[in-house]
Amino acid sequence: MNSTPDAIPDLLDKVTNLAKRRGFIFPSAEIYGGFRSTYDYGPLGVNMLRNVKQAWWRSMVQTRSDIVGIDAAILGPPAIWAASGHLETFTDPLVDCKRCKERWREDKIDGVCPNCGSTEFTEARAFNLMFKTQAGPVEGEGATAYLRPETAQGIFTNFANVLATVRKKPPFGIAQVGKSFRNEITPQNFVFRTREFEQMEMEYFVPPADADEWYRYWIDTRLAWYVDLGIPAEQLRLHEHLPEDLSHYSRGTTDVEFAFPWGFDELEGVANRGDYDLTQHAKASGVALDYFDPTTNERYTPFVIEPAAGATRAMMAFLLAAYHEDLVEGESRTVLRLDWRLAPYQVAVLPLSKKPELEDVSREVLGILQPHFMCDYDVTQSIGRRYRRQDEVGTPYCVTVDFDSLEDRAVTVRDRDTTEQVRVPIDGLLASLRERTGQS
Ligand code: GAP
Repeated sequence: MNSTPDAIPDLLDKVTNLAKRRGFIFPSAEIYGGFRSTYDYGPLGVNMLRNVKQAWWRSMVQTRSDIVGIDAAILGPPAIWAASGHLETFTDPLVDCKRCKERWREDKIDGVCPNCGSTEFTEARAFNLMFKTQAGPVEGEGATAYLRPETAQGIFTNFANVLATVRKKPPFGIAQVGKSFRNEITPQNFVFRTREFEQMEMEYFVPPADADEWYRYWIDTRLAWYVDLGIPAEQLRLHEHLPEDLSHYSRGTTDVEFAFPWGFDELEGVANRGDYDLTQHAKASGVALDYFDPTTNERYTPFVIEPAAGATRAMMAFLLAAYHEDLVEGESRTVLRLDWRLAPYQVAVLPLSKKPELEDVSREVLGILQPHFMCDYDVTQSIGRRYRRQDEVGTPYCVTVDFDSLEDRAVTVRDRDTTEQVRVPIDGLLASLRERTGQS
C-alpha cells in the first residue's frame, strides 16, 4: 500500500536526509560548520530546481501569448524600496526572550519561547527584512544598495520599457524567475523559509474593472498548476487573507497552501495589488507608468494581479508529495513518484554488467536519448540495487541493456511506479519513451 505524506512518520527528516544523501540539497558551507539557513543544490537538486522553474516558465510564458519575461538586477538603489514601501513596512515584529536571549518573530511563537519555554519577552520592535549592502568602493549615502526581497519590483520598474518594446496591451503580464533575499528572523523547516531563495513571480496588468475576474482566474490557474505536476488535490487548499492581515500593497490575497508535515502552509500567494506599485513608482520617479488605450482614448493605471510563488519552496513540496514507501516483491523501497517533467533524471541507462560489449551498446542508447531526456548512466552494483537507487531519486524509466540486446537490438524499459518491464527495440526506444511521457 502506498502511504500519503501525512501518514508517513518523520517525513520531513526522511526527505531532508534523502536530499542530502542523494545530492539534491546540501547545507551550505558545511565544511566550515555550515551557515544557518543557507543551502546548496547538488547535482540532482539543480536538475530538479531547473525543472520546476522550467515548468513554471512553460506554463506562464512559453504557452501563452499574453505574458513576456524579464530578468532584472538583484541589486537596487534605495529609491526603489522607498517607493515600493519596503523600507518602511517590510518588517517583522522582533522580540528577545528575556531568559535565554534568543530572538523570535513575535507572530510565530504564541507567547512561549520555543527554546527555553519562558513567556517573558522584550517589547516587539519592527525589524526590516531587507539585506543592505554597499555598491562601489566608497561607503556613504549614495553607495547604499539593497538585495531585492521580491522579484516583483524589477517588473514594475521596467513596465514602461516592456510596454514600449513588445507592443502588449492590458490584459498582459511580465514574468520573472530569480533569487530574492530576506533577513528572516526565524528561518526554518529545511528550504521552506530561507534567507536566500528563488521566486517565480508574474505581474498581470489589467483594466481596473476586470481586476476581480483576473484575480479569481489566477487563483484557479495556479492551484491547477501544482495538481498538474503531481501534487494530489487533497494536499492543497486555498486560504483567503482577512483584510487586517493583508500586505501594505494588497487589496486581496489568497494563498495556495500545501499540507506540509507541520500542517497547511503557504506555497504561493495570489494578490490583487491594485495600482499601488505603478502609482508609487510613477510618483517617485517622475516617469509616467500608465497605459493609453487608443480604442477608448482613455489613459489609466492598470491594476496588477500577482501570482507569487517560491521555486525552492515549491521544489520542497513536490519532494514531500512524491515521497512514498512501498513494497516490491516483499522488499520495502523508497520511491519518489515525481512527475517526469520534474524528475532530476528522466531515464537511467543501465548496462547489466561492465563487459565492454554491453557498455558499447549502452553508450549508443545513451547517445540516442541524451538530446531529449536528462539521463543518468550507472554501471555499479547489482541491477536490483540500481533500480532501487533510481526509484529513490524519482527516475521514471530505467533502460537496461543485457546480453540479449547484443543479439536482438532490444532493451528492457522498467517503469518506476508499476515496476513493469517491457522489451523495446533500440530503434523504437526514443519514440516509445516520448509516447510514455505524452510527447507524441
Ligand atoms: N511579490 C510578493 C511576494 O513576494 P510573498 O508571499 O512574500 O509575496 C511569495 O512571497 C512566495 O515566495 C511565497 O509564497 C514563498 O513561496 C516564497 N518565499 C517567500 N519568502 C520565502 C523564504 N524566506 N524562503 C523561501 N521561500 C520564500
